[in-house]
Amino acid sequence: MKIGALREKFEGEARVALTPESAQRLNKLGYDCVVESGAGEAAGFSDDVYKEAGVEIAADEAALWAAADVIVAVRAPTLEQLDAAPDGKTLISFIWPAQNEELLAKLNEKKFSTLAMDMVPRISRAQKMDALSSMANIAGYRAVIEAGANFGRFFTGQVTAAGKVPPAKVLVVGAGVAGLAAIGASVSLGAITMAFDVRPEVAEQIESMGAEFVFLDFEESQTDGAETGGYAAPSSPEFREKQLEKFRELAPDVDIVITTALIPGRPAPKLWTEDMVQMMKPGSVIVDLAAEKGGNCDLTVMDEKIVSENGVTIVGYTDFPSKMATQSSTLYATNIRHMMDDLTPEKDGTPFVNMEDDVIRGALVTHDGEITFPPPPPKVKAIAAQKPKEKAPELTPEEKRAAEIAAFKKQTKSQVTLLAIGGAALLAVGLVAPASFMQHFIVFVLSVFIGFQVIWGVAHSLHTPLMAVTNAISSIIILGALMQIGSGSAIVIILAALSVFMAGINIFGGFMVTRRMLAMFQKS
Ligand code: NAI
Repeated sequence: MKIGALREKFEGEARVALTPESAQRLNKLGYDCVVESGAGEAAGFSDDVYKEAGVEIAADEAALWAAADVIVAVRAPTLEQLDAAPDGKTLISFIWPAQNEELLAKLNEKKFSTLAMDMVPRISRAQKMDALSSMANIAGYRAVIEAGANFGRFFTGQVTAAGKVPPAKVLVVGAGVAGLAAIGASVSLGAITMAFDVRPEVAEQIESMGAEFVFLDFEESQTDGAETGGYAAPSSPEFREKQLEKFRELAPDVDIVITTALIPGRPAPKLWTEDMVQMMKPGSVIVDLAAEKGGNCDLTVMDEKIVSENGVTIVGYTDFPSKMATQSSTLYATNIRHMMDDLTPEKDGTPFVNMEDDVIRGALVTHDGEITFPPPPPKVKAIAAQKPKEKAPELTPEEKRAAEIAAFKKQTKSQVTLLAIGGAALLAVGLVAPASFMQHFIVFVLSVFIGFQVIWGVAHSLHTPLMAVTNAISSIIILGALMQIGSGSAIVIILAALSVFMAGINIFGGFMVTRRMLAMFQKS
């Protein structure tokens, strides 16, 4: 069968659903590929590049509909486009079925099998097909770049001859896919990054990325993300009040706010109110990723960039993925390719709609003359099912002190036992060994003990300087061994040669590691 990619007709849409690379992978599943002429132009893939990858070019939309059995697109075709299309095709694109009843009815009328990329459930197995996540990832990254372009200062702090530059302070509200991508980009640019989310289980993820989780002193039983398809549940009015109070505290201090908070199927919660904008310093920037759903900020204007009266720039663009069309097309085409992989278990170029497959069933919105939306809840639990870590019970200062004393006593006891055993073993050796041996043996035991104590506690980040010290020690060993190597005793010669060999391994190993580390900083 043939898979055909439409040229996107929506104004400003630069993405394409099929790339030359994904076409080659689809070939391996038994499909031939065709694209409407100019479909990849805006994303950097010319017709010639497609041709080189063995993709056929259809002169116009009508030719594409006629040639292909499976049509792939980014945005859903309009009602007019569908009217002109033949019946009975398979369509894979964003559909947003809950908001597009008319479109759904039309697709059904045309006897289409339609898979909505926005309906892929957020379960582990479906991650490779999750186009919403791929696009949100790009949007989160781009939001930071956009914020930087509108912010008059560096992200990272610097001390220069011309003066000291403080680092920018970034607050990310909502740490879902887009939020985490924004945190990653912001931390890597050197900004002090804080993040807030209603789901406490993301705190660890945020902190592991080098950002600070903004904690709220509030007890609320959170809905398990797994029950809501991997998304958050709405929070109570009391929680919201507490949250706004915290944001009011942070507003005068932060330079950049990136809001991504969203609960699917609802308007975006208003979390950055007008008075918070007024509290911010002139030159600050707000990027509201939720602009399409009404925005998290009171002042956001969808698809526009505005400047508030006190000089705060508020960006409400909704086409961030399209602004990075090459990247987003590559990821989206890969998501589609994985979807086709799932749809083609026999790899024979014929799609098979398996209603038992959670992912396919979840995404399927029309099939066999029926509207199959909404799907039943997925049988597999969503990714966000991790429970928050159980908190240790709060101790009073007296209890804390008692616990510390008990731990100290336990540690001292085990150290005394070890020393006693060690001392007894030394005495036992001393009873049989000659005095000259004992002198060296005691020095040896003590150096092993001190070496162990010194090296054991060294943090991983300090292993490189530690290696430099061991290299220096190796050279001392070699010196000592060389002085002994000329002695008449065979045993001493063998031991000295062994010492030179082992210290040599350490020294040359050090050179090799240093070389590899330097190579990491070299531009290829
Ligand atoms: P997601 O569902 O993965 O993340 C949303 C996060 O917001 C969740 O972690 C949720 O717990 C959190 N949240 C919900 N209510 C909250 C509240 N009251 N306070 C704090 N956090 C709250 O969604 P994803 O995929 O990260 O998308 C985020 C937003 O970005 C969505 O609004 C989406 O439409 C938008 N988006 C915008 C694009 C653009 O070009 N502007 C492109 C792609 C996505």
